[in-house]
Amino acid sequence: MHYFIANWKANIDLKKADSWLDSFLSYASDFRDKCVVICPPFPLLIQLKEKIKMQKNIYLGSQDISRYESGNYTGEVTVSALQGLINFTLIGHSERRLNFQESPGDLSQKSLLAIKYGIQPIFCIRNENDQIPEKIKLLAYEPVEAIGTGSNQPPDQVLEIKKKLNLKPDVDFLYGGSVTEANASTYLKLSEIRGLLVGNESLNPHNFLGIVNSV
Ligand code: PGA
Repeated sequence: MHYFIANWKANIDLKKADSWLDSFLSYASDFRDKCVVICPPFPLLIQLKEKIKMQKNIYLGSQDISRYESGNYTGEVTVSALQGLINFTLIGHSERRLNFQESPGDLSQKSLLAIKYGIQPIFCIRNENDQIPEKIKLLAYEPVEAIGTGSNQPPDQVLEIKKKLNLKPDVDFLYGGSVTEANASTYLKLSEIRGLLVGNESLNPHNFLGIVNSV
């Protein structure tokens, strides 16, 4: 099974999300042995959920969740509010660590909450020094210098980092950072890399499908 995570970040609005999904589903054929996860901005989740409900192997994820379970936290989106809408959530993306000063404590709290509510965290790390909370089963390694720069990290270097992490065998290791249709298979042909986290190239449904189809 390979994972393909589309991280739309703050880039797609309601109208574009509709046409993205229509195009993606019209080209898409068979996602057997694949798990495709679309991570749109929060307000698009309900509309996309409706559209994918008959689709096999396509799921929704959020790009973040609140570190709070519920309560008087104006503006927060809690995992309890997202229950039933998402199966996955990104946690600890480097843009959140940088722009919103998320600490290791925040990230471990978020991971625990996601797991408590039956939502699978896709935990993102920037390097081998980032702490990984317990019970994480999906780990996305995204070197900061490769994100959005067009300079993907070569697969042999990615494997070196994976070795240093000394992960338990039940953890699926994903790579992210300037993944394109042209380089996707160089990662996916390695049994150690179980999927890809895709930013820019996921904004175009045709390009993203090219990545999904590269294995
Ligand atoms: P990128 O982004 O594919 O545009 O490099 C990846 C990410 O930030 O998850």
